[in-house]
Amino acid sequence: MKPRPIIFDTDPGIDDATAITIAVRNPNLDVRLLSTVGANVEVEKTTLNALKLTEFLGVEIPVAKGCGEPLMRKLRPCPEIHGITGMDGYDFPPVKRKPLEKHAVEAMRNMIMESEEKITLVVIGTHTNIAILFKMYPEVKERIEEIVTMGGGLAGGNTNSSAEFNIYNDPHAAAIVFNSGVPVTMLGLNVTNEARLYRDDAEAIDASGRVGHMIYSLLNHYRDAFMDGGLRIHDSVAVAYLLRPDMFKTQMLPVEIATEGPAAGTTVCDFRAMQRGEKEANIKVVTEIDSAAYVQWIIEEFRRED
Ligand code: BDR
Ligand code: CA
Repeated sequence: MKPRPIIFDTDPGIDDATAITIAVRNPNLDVRLLSTVGANVEVEKTTLNALKLTEFLGVEIPVAKGCGEPLMRKLRPCPEIHGITGMDGYDFPPVKRKPLEKHAVEAMRNMIMESEEKITLVVIGTHTNIAILFKMYPEVKERIEEIVTMGGGLAGGNTNSSAEFNIYNDPHAAAIVFNSGVPVTMLGLNVTNEARLYRDDAEAIDASGRVGHMIYSLLNHYRDAFMDGGLRIHDSVAVAYLLRPDMFKTQMLPVEIATEGPAAGTTVCDFRAMQRGEKEANIKVVTEIDSAAYVQWIIEEFRRED
């Protein structure tokens, strides 16, 4: 299988770090760029974290710093989940690398237009960079294979009772991306909440080697290491979907994003309106995951040689 070319748009973030680590070590994915956004913590920190990670993993993947603020709202970061640095828990050596001089939107544009194959965008932060990319350079749209995004969900939120964090932080940008005409696969909380790692699973990752130990150390600081209730490593589920779609079920649904009012950031997946013939499906929504297979899969991914 020819490796699938992808760009991560990301806010590392402990679950982002897990997702990126798995992806760069898997020969079936070709990670071409990490473009950063401010969300879990400020963009200066998420950019530094992306550099720490590529340097630690010894991979030559460029990092480009993107937007620090959502389009219309004020950023609401969550250091209580990921720590003050955004990747608390592992003592990375001081970083020697630097981000690209170009802004992430410019770097993405160049990468997409210069690539021979269409690129898959894996969005595991807010959609701010991608919304600006589409507004500034609409010609990129037809060079994108698909957008796979961790965000939203069929019902219920984790930031307030109806909105998921990535969509909540920039609902206007998410609405631009979801309505862009580029095929979007939405992988939300209805699936990632079912993909939990428990203490034994995390310890198996720790035992797998240097890389597994680094991730385990981060997981020990993620959400106060709530391992007994099961850790939800949301963003890594997006990578699982790319590599093992057989572990998931999907359905085309009409999805609209509330951008204003108390429900702003909610992804309204209106299957009732679709049944009545009032709305057309526009988004591929991941509806189910084989949780046991997923847990086995993630442990095996870390057993790759360091
Ligand atoms: C999403 O929010 C962030 O905190 C995580 O990195 C993930 O992308 C989960 O709602
Ligand atoms: Ca994230």
